Amino acid sequence: MIKTIGVCGAGTMGSGIAQVSAVAGYDTILYDLDPNIVTIAKSTIEKSLSTLAEKKKITPADQKAIWQRLTFTNNISACIAGLIIEAIVEKPEIKLDLFINLAAHNNPGTILASNTSSLSLDALAENIPGPERFAGMHFFNPAPVMKLVEVVRTKYTAAATADTVMQVARTMGKTPVLCNDSPGFIVNHVARPYYLEALRLLEAGLSDKETIDSLMESTGFRMGPFRLMDLIGNDINYAVSQSVYESLGKPERLKPSSIQRRMVEEGNLGRKTGKGYYPYE
Ligand code: NAI
Repeated sequence: MIKTIGVCGAGTMGSGIAQVSAVAGYDTILYDLDPNIVTIAKSTIEKSLSTLAEKKKITPADQKAIWQRLTFTNNISACIAGLIIEAIVEKPEIKLDLFINLAAHNNPGTILASNTSSLSLDALAENIPGPERFAGMHFFNPAPVMKLVEVVRTKYTAAATADTVMQVARTMGKTPVLCNDSPGFIVNHVARPYYLEALRLLEAGLSDKETIDSLMESTGFRMGPFRLMDLIGNDINYAVSQSVYESLGKPERLKPSSIQRRMVEEGNLGRKTGKGYYPYE
């Protein structure tokens, strides 16, 4: 039975996943190599728990207990747990280094899971010691709010590993869906044209971002494509677009947009940097 969950990467996703984990009753270790990010994540989670308490979604005693279950660190050797969820930068070689490091100082039974949006988990698994205990655990943004979790099986994932990850997701109050490894899994595969077609309209000068967002929202989408890309992070969205495009053999319809590249080069990553397609406070 899993008692302790490690979360690696304390950015947009990692901080939300750590909160979900601690709220669900797991002792939770949140690790990032950048101490400033650890400090920001600590204050984000603290504020978020206070808001939950103010709204009476948790009691003050719950708030205290949840906070006590959380440990924040920038020391990877403190990351020892029954399940470790990786949510670091979307670069395969960096993720692989981290998994090899985690495998070296954790028990061979520790389940290693990746929150990658689009990288090949089969390819990662091939180089991870004990690939049968490795799977995808793909949360959606914002992690404390979104119910869906894609649990991704690689060619090597043991049935018991997938079962445990599904079970942990359910304990977290999520709705897990089991799928096999494929580019973008289910949601990021289906959703790719939502962003790319909107970018094409903008690039061709056929409409502006505000109009496209308002129109899509008026048809029932929770967020227009530009507002959603800013929430996701334009670096992440661009990396996912590239990864899905390349792994599917570069079909023209999924070609990433030069606007995405420019946004990343200019550092306009969205909400997390205070500026993306729109400005943020
Ligand atoms: P982010 O840019 O907000 O955070 C990434 C964090 O990883 C940064 O704080 C960085 O300091 C840290 N980091 C980088 N290299 C590291 C290393 N070697 N060891 C420890 N920490 C390291 O990124 P975000 O958005 O949280 O994405 C993280 C992962 O989650 C990516 O794989 C992404 O594809 C996936 N994801 C992102 C979603 C989104 O909407 N942003 C949704 C679902 C999945």
